Amino acid sequence: MKKLAILVSGRGSNFEAIARHIRERKLKAEIAAVVANVPTAKALETAETLGLPAISLPSKGIDTDTYAALVVERLAPLGIDLIILAGFMRRVGTPLLEAYRDRILNIHPSLLPSFPGLHVQQQALDYGVKHSGCTVHFVDAGLDTGPIVAQAVVPVLDGDTADTLAARILVEEHRVFSEAIALILSGAYCVEGRRVIRKD
Ligand code: GRF
Repeated sequence: MKKLAILVSGRGSNFEAIARHIRERKLKAEIAAVVANVPTAKALETAETLGLPAISLPSKGIDTDTYAALVVERLAPLGIDLIILAGFMRRVGTPLLEAYRDRILNIHPSLLPSFPGLHVQQQALDYGVKHSGCTVHFVDAGLDTGPIVAQAVVPVLDGDTADTLAARILVEEHRVFSEAIALILSGAYCVEGRRVIRKD
């Protein structure tokens, strides 16, 4: 069974959706570690409740590359196939990128390359786009710049606030993330330039 490490910082609803899809056998994988860089992350409690290996590894006051090296050290004995950033609110440092080259996925709540970074639903509303959504992408050294694996689109409604738009996008995140993970774990894809292409 392919092994996932899930990196989280907070609520962990994407992690929960992935865990549910695994329980329901819609996603064939094993969660070998849930690593939180914030000790109070709700996702840690959830991991413990679900009987999954929960690792609290606080990042406060630690620079990006030093923290990445710590994560690599903790994950090394576990034989991780794919790292999943599920609401992980830190940049990923070079040691992690090098140890898991092309094996780190992130989910971002906008249709990249529109609105990278933070407060993205508000950015989408302020810009006035009529559709937004989410993007699963490989992680590279840039900010939300890696090759795109999957996207899902939702409408932006006239009465939307950042919260209502975020909630509509989140429903799609919970679906599309597991689908993208399944594709990458299957190996049935290739990357040509920036394009992630399915192989039949
Ligand atoms: C999600 O909107 C995700 O796209 C973004 O951070 C949020 C995390 O939510 N990267 P959760 O912790 O998975 O509930």
